[in-house]
Amino acid sequence: MANAAGSEMPRLVQEQGRYAFYVDGQPYFILGGQIHNSSAWPAVLPQVWPALEFIHANTIEAPVYWEQLEAQPGKFDFTNVDAIVQQAREHKLHVILLWFGTWKNARCHYVPEWIKSDTVRYPRLVDANARLTDSLSPYGTATLEADQRAFAALMRHLKELDGAQHTVIMVQVENESGSLDSVRDFSPAAQKLFSGAVPEELIHKLKLQPGTWEQVFGNSAAEKSQAYAVARYIERVAAAGKAEYPLPMYVNAWIRSPDDVEPDPPRSYPSGGATDVVLDVWKAAAPSIDLIGPDIYGKGDTAYRRIISAYHRPDNALFVPEDNNLPVFARYPFSVLGEGGIGWTVWGVDHVNTRTDIEPPTAAAFSELVPFERTFRLLASMHDEISRLSFAGKIKTALEGDPSSHTMEFGRWKLIAALGRSNNPPNQPSGVLMAAELGPDEFLVTGFDARIGFALAHPGPNERWQIMKVEEGVYENGAWKVKRLLNGDECDFGVDFGDAGRILHVKLGTY
Ligand code: DGJ
Repeated sequence: MANAAGSEMPRLVQEQGRYAFYVDGQPYFILGGQIHNSSAWPAVLPQVWPALEFIHANTIEAPVYWEQLEAQPGKFDFTNVDAIVQQAREHKLHVILLWFGTWKNARCHYVPEWIKSDTVRYPRLVDANARLTDSLSPYGTATLEADQRAFAALMRHLKELDGAQHTVIMVQVENESGSLDSVRDFSPAAQKLFSGAVPEELIHKLKLQPGTWEQVFGNSAAEKSQAYAVARYIERVAAAGKAEYPLPMYVNAWIRSPDDVEPDPPRSYPSGGATDVVLDVWKAAAPSIDLIGPDIYGKGDTAYRRIISAYHRPDNALFVPEDNNLPVFARYPFSVLGEGGIGWTVWGVDHVNTRTDIEPPTAAAFSELVPFERTFRLLASMHDEISRLSFAGKIKTALEGDPSSHTMEFGRWKLIAALGRSNNPPNQPSGVLMAAELGPDEFLVTGFDARIGFALAHPGPNERWQIMKVEEGVYENGAWKVKRLLNGDECDFGVDFGDAGRILHVKLGTY
């Protein structure tokens, strides 16, 4: 909940290689909803809140448009930002602002007209055939200065507006940067840099032997040089903003499919964006960016795990800033918790097959959001516990479509998940289980369309296990309230979670 004045600054905390996102002095797991690209206007905003409330989101992700913020050079209009922050407060939501500046989906569609129309002062990225593209060059000095100035103005205004209250908890710098039209900039100035030596800073940080881009990076030199240029540009924008108001900042990545063969861009993903193959370059070049998050739209539980584990590194907290709004994706907040992540956001929450233009929207209008409501309702009810347990590295998750996850080992115990519903359509997995170690023999277990069984991981001779107690309950203001003990038919064949989900505390023992 957005707190009263005087709260602590939001911050990322790292301990023993694990991360937590602290908001108002407590670990905070982002249960987010991102609104559609054209929804962050005062005239439209009143229609977005019912969807966020319906799914029990704690955070809205909303864009700030450079074309609106600075329609005239040097004249800043904060009307849209003010409306987002003020209305979010009224709806008791936190805000993540998305700076749609030089890059939006690897294009330059959100820059003001005065930038779009002046390709001399604000140069475009040039392709190998010397054609101007739909992206700005990451080497454009005036473009960088203009973006820095606008972003700094935004952060200065945010400090005034929200520096005491911290409704806005994080800022995304640009949106899915990179280039779709060319693997790199082939302008004469860029060409000169590409033929020259890899900057010393990168050589040093990545522990490489000095040389030209092609000598150092071979086949992937073009993509790596583009990544470095984009990352350095965004670093400077972020640093200009942080100098005004140092909120945590991140970039989101239009990711590579895990099956893409490198070097592949820009055929299936933008070149220079923060894909897994250039994360090291980004980390070295953009220290003001606190984390890099994958936007995940492709299907498959195993692929999902591979993606989030690629973005969860000792030097990178895991946050999924955009996820698909198809029902199968509603299980993935559990996966992010199991991976020790700090948050998850469903994309396009405000018009998912709804008619929010017809007031007032009814629950039926949100039928496609029901799977997300189910997940968020459960997780929101124990938000503080899961945020703490994720930070402590105590959570594991089993997903129906990822058989390797079905046995979760915790010390001497194995928790074995049976997942799914017999009537699920093919390729529509719905089962998910999340288990967290509360103590040596005690677990918090929750999920949907799932059943759990137990075993000893390495039983000694004549050692047998038994259930000591299964409590079904709820969290109320952080306190565990037992509704009943489960036993007999409800436990003897494993414990079932049904499609509504339940929360259990399980105590195991041996004899
Ligand atoms: C990813 C982008 O970051 C979003 O702004 C939006 O365009 C979605 N794709 C649409 O699928």
